[in-house]
Amino acid sequence: MHETLHMSDRRIFLRSSLLSSLALLVNKNATADAHMPSIKGKPIVISTWAPNEKANAEAWKVLEQGGKSVDAVEAGVQIPEGDPEDQSVGYGGLPDRDGFVTLDACIMNEKGDCGSVMFVESIMHPIKLARLVMDKTPHVQLVGEGALQFALANGFKKEQLLTPEAEKEWKKWLKEAKYDPMIIPDLLENKTQRGQQNNHDTIGMIAMDANGDLSGACSTSGMAFKMRGRVGDSPIIGAGLFVDNEVGAATSTGVGEEVVRICGSHTVVELMRQGNSPEQACKKAIQRLIKLRGDKVKELQVCFIAINKKGEFGGYALQKGFTFAVHSNNGSKVYTAKSIYQ
Ligand code: GLY
Repeated sequence: MHETLHMSDRRIFLRSSLLSSLALLVNKNATADAHMPSIKGKPIVISTWAPNEKANAEAWKVLEQGGKSVDAVEAGVQIPEGDPEDQSVGYGGLPDRDGFVTLDACIMNEKGDCGSVMFVESIMHPIKLARLVMDKTPHVQLVGEGALQFALANGFKKEQLLTPEAEKEWKKWLKEAKYDPMIIPDLLENKTQRGQQNNHDTIGMIAMDANGDLSGACSTSGMAFKMRGRVGDSPIIGAGLFVDNEVGAATSTGVGEEVVRICGSHTVVELMRQGNSPEQACKKAIQRLIKLRGDKVKELQVCFIAINKKGEFGGYALQKGFTFAVHSNNGSKVYTAKSIYQ
């Protein structure tokens, strides 16, 4: 594998063609308009990307019984983590450029307790491991081999996470081995064959329980064919996820490097603290990124979703095609977020 990356190799973006293709794959149930209704009330759970309606349904089982939001998000995120068809989270996730599936996840509750694991291999449900870091250690983050040791010492079993399908995609990529981790043309073809199931990356899930307490969780296998050791925004508290029980919660999906630069999810929560609605807060965070990065993010995708203490929610993206799923007492629904670029 390459040790030195050329400038062109460092490009981490979604090209227009990819974006157009993704847009075509948007869930047919998604609403055409991006107007966010005011479903005030609790409980409520929101996740990045339409296919995560299934994850919300699992979280809802906890919420409708009066369970805690932190237990709901931990349960919900395990759905895509255990789904071999989902090639961007957990089991079945596309490997790094050396052929290893490495996972990142984090969780945060209403008290500011949080746990995170990064660059973890062989553990099917990194969100459970992140929860254990939160509950059983004095720390917030465990990484790589140390996180794996901690998992094994606490009853987790090593599992093969590289599915034959994901390995096939990696071997196809190896033929050219072009370091351009967000561009996976062959995979797109497969996505079309499979329908819209894989039209998403990270799952970020935020919820408010019947008690009014907020929590969130985030899990990903990161960019396909990434450099070994690369970690994005998803396991970084404040970037991929942030919860402030006085104000609201936010989470992100898309190119993690860009989210980290603006401490994205924390920024969204602070914008809500200043009086912005969840959608306005997500939009202003995206605008801040554009102000900082200009043309460098013109062809990238970055998306946020947020919820406030009133149970209002919203999302916003850099590019069109971002969907998010909401489950409340009104049932399950998918929304298409507004975006800066069309
Ligand atoms: N947002 C997921 C990642 O960049 O790894």
